[in-house]
Amino acid sequence: MFMRNGLLFLALLTTPILHADESPKLGKPVSQALVKQWNSDIFPDGEGLPTGKGTATYGKKVYQQYCLSCHGIKGTGDSADELAGAKHGLTDNPPDKTIGTYWPYATTIFDFTRRSMPLNNPGSLNNSQLYAVTAYLLFLNGIITEKEIMNAETLPKVIMPNRNGFVSYTVNP
Ligand code: HEC
Repeated sequence: MFMRNGLLFLALLTTPILHADESPKLGKPVSQALVKQWNSDIFPDGEGLPTGKGTATYGKKVYQQYCLSCHGIKGTGDSADELAGAKHGLTDNPPDKTIGTYWPYATTIFDFTRRSMPLNNPGSLNNSQLYAVTAYLLFLNGIITEKEIMNAETLPKVIMPNRNGFVSYTVNP
């Protein structure tokens, strides 16, 4: 009986303190730089694209240093997805989905890479490295030439092979 009362007393004493200003103290405060990195969207028309520029020629070097270890030589895949070099099309079973066969907008390559790649250190590439590696991936997929400059103006103008392969479908209520 005494123990039960004692336990009850302790619980009443500690609960308000925990609620007042104690947190589990997990994790660490998020920096403004990290919030900025995540809170950025690039749209198909190019809205949100930063300054900077790059070609596939430089992008090849960026790729070899930061991407090849997972995505393989010329983007043909290794421990991570293939990014280029589809051997057959989307209508085959199973479909061969790469950036080149599947993605409708080139700007998404920049956005996705800036947000999430390289997987082991996202956010580490500067804008010109990002434009360059995007250009290299487009070049590997046979969509642009090696010398074409990708920047905020040219990237949204790239027409991806599957641009019109998506349909809008509205379900009637
Ligand atoms: C440590 C391994 C690793 C490295 C290094 C890496 N990636 Fe990835 N990447 C992955 C994995 C794993 C996925 C699949 C992630 C998922 O599906 O969510 C992926 C997915 C992608 C995709 C999407 C592919 C698709 O068709 O959905 C792109 C584009 C991409 N990576 C680009 C890059 C670029 C560019 C670099 C270098 C700057 C890079 N990655 C470096 C592991 C890596």
